[in-house]
Amino acid sequence: MRVLIVGSGGREHAIVWKLSKSPKIKKMYCAPGNAGIAELAECVEIQGEDIERICQFAVANKIDLAVIGPEVPLSLGIVDALEDKGIRTFGPNKKCAQLEASKAFTKKFLERHRIPTARYKEFTDRRKIEEDIGIFGYPMVIKADGLAAGKGVIIAETKEEAEKAIGEIMGDKVFGTAGDKIVVEEFLTGVEASMLCFVDENTIVPMESVQDYKRIFDGDKGPNTGGMGTYSPSLIFDGELQEKINNQILLPTLKGFQEDGLNFKGVLFVGLMIKDGEPKVIEFNNRFGDPETQVILVRLETDLLDIFEAVINNRLSEIKLKWSEKKAVCVVMAAGGYPGNYEKGDKIYGLEKVDKEVTVFHAGTVMKTSKQAGPSNDCYIATNGGRVLGTTAFGETHEEGRIKAYDNVKRITFNGAQYRKDIGLM
Ligand code: AMP
Ligand code: GLY
Repeated sequence: MRVLIVGSGGREHAIVWKLSKSPKIKKMYCAPGNAGIAELAECVEIQGEDIERICQFAVANKIDLAVIGPEVPLSLGIVDALEDKGIRTFGPNKKCAQLEASKAFTKKFLERHRIPTARYKEFTDRRKIEEDIGIFGYPMVIKADGLAAGKGVIIAETKEEAEKAIGEIMGDKVFGTAGDKIVVEEFLTGVEASMLCFVDENTIVPMESVQDYKRIFDGDKGPNTGGMGTYSPSLIFDGELQEKINNQILLPTLKGFQEDGLNFKGVLFVGLMIKDGEPKVIEFNNRFGDPETQVILVRLETDLLDIFEAVINNRLSEIKLKWSEKKAVCVVMAAGGYPGNYEKGDKIYGLEKVDKEVTVFHAGTVMKTSKQAGPSNDCYIATNGGRVLGTTAFGETHEEGRIKAYDNVKRITFNGAQYRKDIGLM
């Protein structure tokens, strides 16, 4: 089989890494990929948003299966476009991708199907939202409706902060058209957790649980990021909570998809807030999480290709997912300044010192050619994004996985590197 993976982050490296263990795959391409992915797949310089060129490439290279990592190409309809060309593709179509691309769309879906979530109201008129300021009290949760690279949610503690956020979103258009509509929500308290599920038209199957760390600094301080680390399984989940999530959230969601004619196929990422054992949905994403995928896929024992094929063929119910009992911990190394401005192009040292059983998933990395390397004439791997690497280790216990991950992280260096010291620390 010839497979094309679209994306360039740690998530896509983990997908490529896992698929590389599938005996049925003869050739893998990744568009655009990164320096780590290039060791396992042929990288082609096409961005995921360039749907026309992705389609041309897929047809010209007789791709049997395409797998879409990030949300932006999904929301632009890459799955519909590839399928029109006869390319079987793993990921939701454009209509279903609204579940991530529009928060108002998801809130209406949740409300219609009586799935527990925060109360909300949507606004397209700045004057109206200012009249309703503090409608659910403070903190006031203010969300740009559309995709904003994980930055579109503002938790305003005061009226002044809320006015400033509304001005930025609707006046200054800091998120562009993603902020034409605003969703305001009741502020939920509790513990956050994520549940990723494989979904086809008849079945929804949760993966192993995972805990992520969204803030940049230790102790959950500082601004939100795409994710600074993860561990799996999460310690929050027990049988009772899992059953509640199944009965109150996952099964009603599948039924809702069927009733609404949403033929969702792919990964549904359910962001949850859990308080006193009661789960509520914070958000849906329609793809694998990053860095959730890294710890999930190293624990998955089933062939990932078989799962992708089963989802596409609506035969997910026939697959039994097998998981390693081991615990996994992923520590993200980010560029200095992230999630604000950061440098690119710094040489990364020490990757060769990492233990064999530890996997370093590349996120923002690039291979500098000998020409770019200057006088030394050697190729080298350099930073090329905010989140740079995700060092992922196993242990019999969370603690063993954590110690192993950090032991290896310390062998890798680059200018300005920062990472949290408390990932997986109980
Ligand atoms: P989202 O992009 O919708 O996942 O929101 C990003 C983050 O904002 C979440 O991970 C939560 O930490 C926080 N958040 C979003 N909605 C709410 C809410 N209704 N109440 C409290 N926190 C929220
Ligand atoms: N780590 C959060 C996400 O992938 O959206």
